[in-house]
Amino acid sequence: MAGTLAGKAALVTGAARGQGRAIALALAEAGADVAICDVGAAAMETVGYALGGALGEVAQAIEAHGVRALAMACDVRDMAEVEAFVAAALEAFGRIDIIVNNAGILTGGRPAHELDEAMWTTMIDVNLTGAWRVVRAAVPHMIAKGEGGRIVNIASVAGHVGTPGYAHYCASKHGMMGLTRAMAGELAEHRITVNALCPGLVDTPMVAAATDDLAAARGLGVEEAYELQLTPHLIKEKITSEQSAAAVMYLVSEAARVVTGSALMIDAGWSAT
Ligand SMILES: NC(=O)c1ccc[n+]([C@@H]2O[C@H](COP(=O)([O-])OP(=O)(O)OC[C@H]3O[C@@H](n4cnc5c(N)ncnc54)[C@H](O)[C@@H]3O)[C@@H](O)[C@H]2O)c1
Repeated sequence: MAGTLAGKAALVTGAARGQGRAIALALAEAGADVAICDVGAAAMETVGYALGGALGEVAQAIEAHGVRALAMACDVRDMAEVEAFVAAALEAFGRIDIIVNNAGILTGGRPAHELDEAMWTTMIDVNLTGAWRVVRAAVPHMIAKGEGGRIVNIASVAGHVGTPGYAHYCASKHGMMGLTRAMAGELAEHRITVNALCPGLVDTPMVAAATDDLAAARGLGVEEAYELQLTPHLIKEKITSEQSAAAVMYLVSEAARVVTGSALMIDAGWSAT
């Protein structure tokens, strides 16, 4: 896709590592200027693994593709920080054509009736309301520009099936599907497409932490826990961040101009059973 997004500008949240990083680099490789953000602190209440990463290094890797990068600390739980991120991107690039709502957390390992209220509210605040905050801040500019746009919400197979032990994560991702479908209807007249990407298990730090938790909870080795996690995948391998990014690149491509309100499943067949 080299050069196909030349002159476009993209926002990617949660881009310090994992899928967000891979998506940001794929957008840059296609010629887009890319604004990236990630949460400023590694620790978050209720999250048992470290967040964030080397955002500056991701910005350098974006620039290595000959495009502009903007990197900022921004917690998608904070409307003022999200507005500042969007304003900085507009000042740097003068436009926003693509939004990828990727920032997310995974906590769980217990049934809904045993969740703390903080686990519930933090999950919804980051995974669902965080995505809404970004569109609240950025979409009016996309509409005013009048040149269309693309929004990709990184939901999950958990936006389609129930995953016991992760009801709050499931609820956040099912909510993201509702946001995606409603916004597709709202924005079609502006030629802005809104789609969800729904991965199965992707090999990222988030899932590595879940593997460790599963191993500890079941008294398993990490390899055994890894195999157990793959049970719902028809194809018994984890998905890579690059495979996820390739699917995003389809959704932002010219070929997908009539694709909106859809869920692109890259779940190794999980939801097919
Ligand atoms: N890994 C999987 O198996 C999988 C499967 C389906 C969907 N997803 C979703 O994909 C997205 C990316 O996850 P990943 O697998 O790359 O995990 P990851 O933990 O490696 O990356 C998530 C990024 O989001 C950032 N983040 C978390 N809370 C934030 C906040 N409040 N503000 C800004 N940034 C924040 C983290 O710091 C991290 O850099 C998430 O929305 C996740 O729910 C992941």
